[in-house]
Amino acid sequence: MSTLVLEDVTKTYGQGANAVEAVRGVSLSVEPGGTLGLIGESGSGKSTLGRICLGAEAFDRGRLLVGGEDFAGFDRERLAEFRRRTSIVLQEPELALNPRRTLGQSVTEPLDIHFPRLPAAERHARAEHALELAHLDPGLWDRYPRELSGGQQQRAGIARAVVTEPEFVVLDEPTASLDLSVRGRILETLRELQERLGLSYLLITHDMATVSALAQRVVVLYKGVAVETGEWREVRANPADEYTRKLLSAVLRVRTTGTTDRA
Ligand SMILES: Nc1ncnc2c1ncn2[C@@H]1O[C@H](COP(=O)(O)OP(=O)(O)O)[C@@H](O)[C@H]1O
Ligand SMILES: [Mg+2]
Repeated sequence: MSTLVLEDVTKTYGQGANAVEAVRGVSLSVEPGGTLGLIGESGSGKSTLGRICLGAEAFDRGRLLVGGEDFAGFDRERLAEFRRRTSIVLQEPELALNPRRTLGQSVTEPLDIHFPRLPAAERHARAEHALELAHLDPGLWDRYPRELSGGQQQRAGIARAVVTEPEFVVLDEPTASLDLSVRGRILETLRELQERLGLSYLLITHDMATVSALAQRVVVLYKGVAVETGEWREVRANPADEYTRKLLSAVLRVRTTGTTDRA
């Protein structure tokens, strides 16, 4: 897809005494085929920005640009096209999956919505292909979410996100709910899909290993403000902002403790 840009975006929830300024003057860009990491602690405005990038959340100030075109000016046709070309993978796969629908039904659903005129056989074939892309056995087609492991549920969420052949995908904490042993394999699959399908990712996470696995550039958010933006390699090696330094050293402390505990 064309480059996706947020320019000086501000978003407030609620009004008056209840107003929460979730995002303040944030600018970012996601290049075609690239991954931008959006990192920060819980409540810093990451998911809000993810939804804004998908055109799924209104905002007070600033612009969303898709290939240089202002999203606010999209007509119905462009809007429908943008929705077909974008998707999201959520942290909690069980929330993304309807418990009363089989895996096959859940993965076919985005096609029902975005490509309703596709013949049923073609829809089925595409859904099966998406399962294979996400490394799920199509033999699991008739299983319900509760009959799948956590890793398989997350793969189902990934299959749903790619079945429409999107170009831009928001990964909102895609591995946060998973065991450490499963995490690496899911990240591997996400990287492989990016290469095979030419996807651009907005990767939302507070896990630095996840950032390292996927992102080239990062934006560090603190209380809704982008406190640092740059190449991940440089930010990690040489954080300019005090909050980024804290974030990184907190991670290092946790890692060190973890290692000691296991030893
Ligand atoms: N729908 C909403 N209504 C009111 N406040 C919200 C809503 N969504 C998020 N917020 C608030 O906006 C801030 C940022 O939330 P969020 O974007 O979910 O952060 P993150 O994903 O980094 O945890 C938080 O203070 C949160 O409570
Ligand atoms: Mg969030």
